[in-house]
Amino acid sequence: MESFVNEVNFFEGNNPEDIVAQYGTPVYVYNERILRKRIRNVAGVVKKFPYKANFSMKANSNLTILKIVLEEGLNADAMSIGEVKLLELAGFPADRIFFVPNNVSDDELKYAIDKGITVSLDSISQLERFGRLSPGARCAVRINPGIGAGHSDSVVTAGKNTKFAVEEKDIPELLETARKHNLKIVGINQHIGSLFMAPDPYLAAVTNLLRIAHKFDDLEFIDFGGGFGTPYHKLAGEQEFDINLLTEGIEKLLGDFIAETGKQILFKSEPGRYVVADSSVLLGRVYATKENYDKKYAGTDIGQNVLVRPTLYGSWHDVEVLRDGKPVLPSSGTEVVSVTGNICESGDIIAKERELPVIKEGDLVCVLDAGAYGYSMCSPYNSRPRPAEVMICEDGSVKCIRRAETFEDLIRLF
Ligand code: LLP
Repeated sequence: MESFVNEVNFFEGNNPEDIVAQYGTPVYVYNERILRKRIRNVAGVVKKFPYKANFSMKANSNLTILKIVLEEGLNADAMSIGEVKLLELAGFPADRIFFVPNNVSDDELKYAIDKGITVSLDSISQLERFGRLSPGARCAVRINPGIGAGHSDSVVTAGKNTKFAVEEKDIPELLETARKHNLKIVGINQHIGSLFMAPDPYLAAVTNLLRIAHKFDDLEFIDFGGGFGTPYHKLAGEQEFDINLLTEGIEKLLGDFIAETGKQILFKSEPGRYVVADSSVLLGRVYATKENYDKKYAGTDIGQNVLVRPTLYGSWHDVEVLRDGKPVLPSSGTEVVSVTGNICESGDIIAKERELPVIKEGDLVCVLDAGAYGYSMCSPYNSRPRPAEVMICEDGSVKCIRRAETFEDLIRLF
């Protein structure tokens, strides 16, 4: 594929130059049509049995996006009380929020308890703390099934090398702690990690969690977590994560479990990235080009403060070059160049030594698959205010869904 934005008509007929003329660069641009399609895909992962997909909002916490998620019928999981409050602001009722925190204080637990939001505890000491605060309550526990998967060690959240969840051998002590406080464990959840492109590791983890589920008597739900991948190498032809293959595998496992136990259980998942990643591109302006010791650089205003994934994990994001609002296709000639940002760090590189269409000063760069862990991980490092987010609506109109931060916003805390 030479151009993703052309192939999917990402800008829906709008000229990206008009968008940046109004909102500046850098700017996150979302496509509502793609977003809704992704949401519907995850909503339909399991069709034969009671199932609910929870959007993992750490991937993207824009209020407009949360409202669309709500409207499409997904539930949501939150990692912090800040995330819980944003979900409430978007209109999510307590029974559609699942609080899955790690190492939280009494105050945070109390907030969720008072609101009647189901909490998942991810250690015996947190369960103990929860039990002291809310004896007799209903809750869930996060299990570490000993299987992990993901695109980098930093995002593998289960297995033998992570801080998350309770390992299987500690379940008797966990149940004892629950009994002591008269807690009813109504759910178990897991999240093995982020970004796998084949269903196998997920299905292995589902199998394992279903086996572990036999150790709990009062289960009402089993939540298998998120992690479904999205192809970050689209321009090289990488194919989408095959949801149908996942459906086939998972429905077989769930069918066997129900036949064996006769239990009425709600099954859940927690996808974040899959829902939002490719519904957004990040546009930035090229302000300088140069050669340093035989290496070419295109200097843009997309710093690591705006998109940290390449710097933090060495993650790959496809990059397109736009001139006069239209993609410059690789077939017009390429060269090897590093696309960098405007932050005072040598790791401030969006795309390192990439073969790209020849970039000129004044071009726009369009970073693909920026919707997940893009804006949500932004920072105002180097005192650069965070960018705006805009959405191209289904009718083709463009609306601002978060204004750009200003210098005044930055100094308001002093
Ligand atoms: N549920 C739990 C408990 C999680 O910890 C996560 C992600 C998810 C669901 C959603 O995972 P997803 O479907 O998005 O893979 N910042 C990293 C990803 C960190 C993921 C942390 N946990 C990145 O940019 O790749």
